[in-house]
Amino acid sequence: MSQHSTDPAPAPNTGLATVFGHRDWWRDAVIYQVYPRSFADSNGDGMGDLEGVRSRLSHLRDLGVDAVWLSPFYASPQADAGYDVADYRAVDPMFGNLMDADALIRDAHAHGLRIIVDLVPNHSSDQHEWFKRALAEGPGSPLRERYHFRPGKGESGELPPNDWESIFGGPAWTRVADGEWYLHLFAPEQPDLNWNHPAVGDEFRSILRFWLDMGVDGFRVDVAHGLVKAEGLPDLGSHDQLKLLGNDAMPFFDQDGVHAIYRQWRTILDEYAGEKIFVAEAWTPTIERTALYVRPDELHQAFNFQYLGTHWDAAELRAVIDTTLDAMRPVGAPATWVLSNHDVTRHTTRFAHDRALGTQIREAGDRELGLRRARAATLLMLALPGSAYLYQGEELGLPDVVDLPDEVRQDPAFSRGEGQDGFRDGCRVPIPWTRTGSSYGFGDGGSWLPQPEGWGDLSIEAQQGVAGSTLELYRTALAARRDHPDLGAGESVEWLKAPEGVLAFRRGGFVCVANTTGETVTTPAYGDILLASTEPTIADGETKLPADTTVWWTTG
Ligand code: GLC
Repeated sequence: MSQHSTDPAPAPNTGLATVFGHRDWWRDAVIYQVYPRSFADSNGDGMGDLEGVRSRLSHLRDLGVDAVWLSPFYASPQADAGYDVADYRAVDPMFGNLMDADALIRDAHAHGLRIIVDLVPNHSSDQHEWFKRALAEGPGSPLRERYHFRPGKGESGELPPNDWESIFGGPAWTRVADGEWYLHLFAPEQPDLNWNHPAVGDEFRSILRFWLDMGVDGFRVDVAHGLVKAEGLPDLGSHDQLKLLGNDAMPFFDQDGVHAIYRQWRTILDEYAGEKIFVAEAWTPTIERTALYVRPDELHQAFNFQYLGTHWDAAELRAVIDTTLDAMRPVGAPATWVLSNHDVTRHTTRFAHDRALGTQIREAGDRELGLRRARAATLLMLALPGSAYLYQGEELGLPDVVDLPDEVRQDPAFSRGEGQDGFRDGCRVPIPWTRTGSSYGFGDGGSWLPQPEGWGDLSIEAQQGVAGSTLELYRTALAARRDHPDLGAGESVEWLKAPEGVLAFRRGGFVCVANTTGETVTTPAYGDILLASTEPTIADGETKLPADTTVWWTTG
């Protein structure tokens, strides 16, 4: 018998798990969010694109992340920067075409990076074929049943069908020419789909398969808590919806019915080899409610927005870390941690304020303080058990651009809101790659949002190889996470005694200490310093830990 025939049969295609290393890769993965509009522009039209992302994959590989989540790049009129999808199976020409998507997925894999795409199932664009037909065919059209069309209230139907408000401000209903109203929890250009209609579920199961067949490694599920609305669309009965959002049960969010959808989706994902994952964007009132989305037969991960919203304060951080770990343990899901994304003021700017109120900040604050805390917060986050999400540019310590002129802002909430929101453009400004040059290396044709003066000093070119730069801090931290299995793994932390305002915890042969106070504090020297966000001084077995600093120790 030839050598060939005695070889064991080739292993079934377990996909990328073998190429990428360990099984259950997602349990401690660091996942980097690319906002395609603002990452890199390959064709000089001022707008980032898929080819731009592909050409810069080596930056992500060198940074040391495990996967890339791409915000939507599908065919879209861009009423909400691509979260209004007109064709879920097409790439918008502004970002390229399906060949570019295919090349990006293949090249990312060749770089050892997985690709997670955004799925937007709560609403389509008003330019989606279904909605255009629903409007054209008029009341009674079967296509209207795929959305939430209703007659209005009042004598001649002149009032919206209920009292729900759009997250972007104003009523959640828009009246069409024939007198009916349709529901949109976001902008009027984003009509909500009716998930009670079987065609909607069929369509999204097919969309999942389309992208899985293209080779993607998972999906970030947009507004995962919104798909099912309470029976009969009952009034909220409150005019303070914004206060309730995220804190209270709402008739349009976090309804128990959403879980049946995710159980179905999970069976589809599990048919594919290679450990594909779902991550839920689910803003729920409590972490315990979030945990329901990541039960073993549902989604894999959910963003931890409670963590994102926590101040740089030891007691608050410890509480949210404990609550998170306690909530995830019973369902066997990894905790996730996140500090920034495309919807909130970057954490460098949030932490530049003593106690930033909310996640939409309009003042620069103390930039030096913000950066110092942001670096410390990153090291704390990357020492916690579970998976962490990074948002493009945070590895450069980018602040939010708080002074964009009103006329360039594109966030739909800016024009609809009443001052409470609409400042998301500040974290979406194209990132700087080079010190100088047209749009600091973003592309050859300017940038769709103006970059501020001095942006080049924060560029990758300016920071790489520079000891102590934020980019090198991230690179070293991510390399250490790979080298030290205690970082990232497991599902608990062992808290150590620490001065007020300081967090200290042990995880195997590793200790993390974070000083959230504005003063130097004295702590023990726990072993050898692996990494520090600001250099401490050590003498006689004691550590002088500077204000707003995190240190990683190896204890042997
Ligand atoms: C999610 C997205 C956000 C978008 C909204 C509506 O919250 O993260 O950017 O505006 O959904 O799709």
